[in-house]
Amino acid sequence: MAAERGSSSQAWQELTTDYERARARDDSLDRLVEWPAQRELLGDVTGRSILDLGCGNGGKLAELVRAGAAASAGVDIAGKFITSAPSGVDLIRGDLSHPESVPELQGRTFDRILFLQSFGYAKDPVHTLRAAQTMLNQNGFILLTRTQPIRYAVEQAERNGTTLGEEYFSEADYTYRSRWNESISLTKRAYTMSDLLNVFSAARLWIETVVEPQLDDEAARRYPHKQAYLNKYLGILIFKLRPLAPAESKPPS
Ligand SMILES: C[S@@+](CC[C@H](N)C(=O)[O-])C[C@H]1O[C@@H](n2cnc3c(N)ncnc32)[C@H](O)[C@@H]1O
Repeated sequence: MAAERGSSSQAWQELTTDYERARARDDSLDRLVEWPAQRELLGDVTGRSILDLGCGNGGKLAELVRAGAAASAGVDIAGKFITSAPSGVDLIRGDLSHPESVPELQGRTFDRILFLQSFGYAKDPVHTLRAAQTMLNQNGFILLTRTQPIRYAVEQAERNGTTLGEEYFSEADYTYRSRWNESISLTKRAYTMSDLLNVFSAARLWIETVVEPQLDDEAARRYPHKQAYLNKYLGILIFKLRPLAPAESKPPS
C-alpha cells in the first residue's frame, strides 16, 4: 500500500474503488499479510466498540462487527462505502484529521481506534492522535499502521539514481503515480522512523507492540512476486499504542 497525502481527498474520491479492487485480489498483500496481522493484534473484539479512521469502504469494520464487536463507526473522506454493512456499523464521510469535529462522533467513545494505512493523511498528526485519545475508553488502545519509510527511500533512489540515505533523509515531499490507478497522483510527506516515533511521543502514547508482518512460507511459495516485493520494499509497520498514564504530580523539591 502506497498512498500517503496530497490533495488526497480529491484523489481518493477516484482511487477508493481501484484500491478496494486491488485489495480483493488473491495475491493482495493486505489480504495475505497486513489484515491477518492487524486482526491478530486486535485480538478478541467481542463487545468492543471500534472507530476506524480512514476506513476505506468499511469492509474491515463490517468484518469486526460480524465477529462480535459492539456498535462501531468508520470515517472516510471518500464516502464510498459498502451497502451491505451489518447493523451496528455507522459509516461516515469525514476527515480523520479532526475526529473530534465529526458531528456523528460527538459524545461517543471507543475501545479500539484504528488508523490502517490512513494516518499519513492527517494534516497535523500529533493533533489527530491527541484528539483520538480523548475518544478512547479506559484500557483502550490505538492500532496504527504505516508503510516502512525505507520503502519510499528505495523507490526514490531507484527513480532518481540516488542513494538510500539521500532519499531516506530527504525532507522534500514527492509526488508519484498510484499503483492502483496510474492516472492518479498522490503526494507524500517524507518521514523517517524517528519522525514517526517522535509523533507518538509528542502525543503521549507508548508503544506496547510493533510488528513488521511478512508472508508465511506457503504464501511466499505461491506468490513469489510478492516475496520479491517484500524482499525489496519491506512492507508495513503495525503499532499498538496506549495512552501514557498522567504523570504523578510531585511537590516541588
Ligand atoms: C490505503 S487506504 C486504507 C483503507 C483501509 N483503512 C484499509 O486498511 O484497507 C487509505 C484510506 O484513507 C482515506 N483517506 C485519505 N485521506 C483521508 C482523510 N483526510 N480523512 C479520512 N480518510 C482519508 C482514503 O479515502 C482511503 O480509503
